[in-house]
Amino acid sequence: MIRLALPKGRSLEVARAALVSAGYDLGRLDLDGRSLRHRLPEAGLELLLLKDRDLPLYVERGVADCGVVGRDVLEEVDGDLLVPLELAGGRCRLALIGPAGAALPRPGAQVRLATKYPRTAERFLAGEPWSAEVLELSGSIELAPLLGLSDLILDIVQTGATLAAHGLAELRTVREIAPCLVVHRAAWQTLRAELGGLIARLERAGVAA
Ligand code: PRP
Repeated sequence: MIRLALPKGRSLEVARAALVSAGYDLGRLDLDGRSLRHRLPEAGLELLLLKDRDLPLYVERGVADCGVVGRDVLEEVDGDLLVPLELAGGRCRLALIGPAGAALPRPGAQVRLATKYPRTAERFLAGEPWSAEVLELSGSIELAPLLGLSDLILDIVQTGATLAAHGLAELRTVREIAPCLVVHRAAWQTLRAELGGLIARLERAGVAA
């Protein structure tokens, strides 16, 4: 059996749909319920439901053999994980965002940038001609520029509905983000046939990027 960690939140439905498309019978699995661990012997899977920020640690330590997590989260954590594929669904982008009508900071300017992704933000800022004080938040980021906590935010945009609802706009797309399949290094050897089968089924179903 493969122990597969799924992220509660944005990528959960994408991962569930990908597994179903790949022919895994998830039966009447209720991923929205309270249960965090689901054994599906017929499918050869045990599913764990984790906070996305915690998921890479579970896979890196081999507690889960593999998992699905957004590239945005993966780039924020240290971890020695294999990433054999990205899923085709659930794509979004990481963007620099400000009040609608605002311009990019001028070269040499110093601004305040709120984000859930401080390490990614520092890497992004290293290539910019302006600088920023990075303010780490864990959610409701859109409020920061509205209420004057920050000038700009670095955040995920998918439909753009959240930005529009808050009078914000993308100033710059930083990178595309996709949900990734991540695999524990040792499991890649010890469960070679099982993990190879999972990957082949996802690829055949056309749900791998
Ligand atoms: C992200 C992001 C935005 C929203 C954008 O939050 O922080 O708030 O999604 O999506 P949209 O462009 O489709 O409106 P998420 O839903 O991942 O929740 P979180 O703040 O709990 O991480």
